[in-house]
Amino acid sequence: MPSLDEFAADKLGELEKASLRRALVDTTRVTGIWMLRAGRRLLSFSCNDYLNLTHHPAVKEAAIEAVETYGVGAAASRFVTGNHPLYAQLEARLARFKEVQACCVFGSGYLANLGIIPALVGAGDLVLIDELAHACLWAGARLSRATVLTFQHNDVTHVEDLLTKYRRRHPHALIATDGVFSMDGDLAPLPALAAEATRHDAWLMSDDAHGLGVVGNGRGSPFAFGSKVEIPLQMGTLSKALGAYGGYLCASAPVVDLIRNRARSVIYTTGLPPAMVAAAIAALDLIAREPAYAARPLAKAKAFARSAGLPEPDSPIVPIVLGDAEAALSAAGLLEEHGFLVIAIRPPTVPAGTARLRLTFTAQHPDAEIERLAEIVRTRILVRPPVSAAAAQ
Ligand SMILES: Cc1ncc(COP(=O)(O)O)c(C=O)c1O
Repeated sequence: MPSLDEFAADKLGELEKASLRRALVDTTRVTGIWMLRAGRRLLSFSCNDYLNLTHHPAVKEAAIEAVETYGVGAAASRFVTGNHPLYAQLEARLARFKEVQACCVFGSGYLANLGIIPALVGAGDLVLIDELAHACLWAGARLSRATVLTFQHNDVTHVEDLLTKYRRRHPHALIATDGVFSMDGDLAPLPALAAEATRHDAWLMSDDAHGLGVVGNGRGSPFAFGSKVEIPLQMGTLSKALGAYGGYLCASAPVVDLIRNRARSVIYTTGLPPAMVAAAIAALDLIAREPAYAARPLAKAKAFARSAGLPEPDSPIVPIVLGDAEAALSAAGLLEEHGFLVIAIRPPTVPAGTARLRLTFTAQHPDAEIERLAEIVRTRILVRPPVSAAAAQ
């Protein structure tokens, strides 16, 4: 066997032994909530399509029309010939919706974070990042070559201590956090982080992939605290509540101009397919028009948590931390037997010892099914007390 294949086989064996090997499973999303897997119809609580807009007639229609008008692919970087006119429309709408001066759309949320951080900070600068921040914020921070320091999850005192100790040694400092944490569903303490950033002349960046469309009247986590929190770098994605694909940064006009000039993941990549941009515009219009609809996923998550006996969630993401990977896989298997698709989330996506079920609630989940799910979770899965994510680390 060639050594590369041996290397791969060994690594896969290690993953297998630790119940951490992953396999792709064909999944047909029949509607926003119903899936077909291995011939079975399952109700999904694992999609980030919080408003079920992937299958909304107006969103699909906008995508189809864009294909007819502009073709399938963008055919070049936005800086060559890929900047179809839908980009300007989406960027203007996102900026208006987030109440900022400007917006730059990227090929994905992951690409946005890979591009934004290295465009703003570099060797000699400082990045403070929440220990549970999403993998692509981490990737952007590491790619920047700045000094990267981790702060304990949502611990503003720790942020303050680090800034007091280290800020003066670096020309620029950036604080990076999820707005809504992807695996825990909790909100970052944005007002307090913004105050710390201002006090220490640091730039606050929030990743609101799971906030846009579902918290703060649909406008995202900066709007979820009563009055709007001023965050100079608001990143997000078009791939979750908007039901499309792509990422964005909302910021001031000069910052967005700089990002367009410096972010390698905007410049050296093909523009988004026009259909995705058109779909995102249609989805954003729906969310802006119907804040009551945007409130539904969180209301459903709260109803589930009440019935299952879990703490009240801040977002439509409800984690049930079970500890080891096998426990999470077996709980997911049990739910699948009852017709629910709830994927087990294992390390390295979450810290070791905090494998979990991660449930996401969407606008169209039937209340009776949510009750049935809660009953099974309460009586069959939570018979052992859930592991606290903080305690397990
Ligand atoms: C918090 C967070 N940021 C960024 C991303 C990446 O976004 P995208 O799927 O658009 O690349 C995700 C999605 O997995 C996420 O959960």
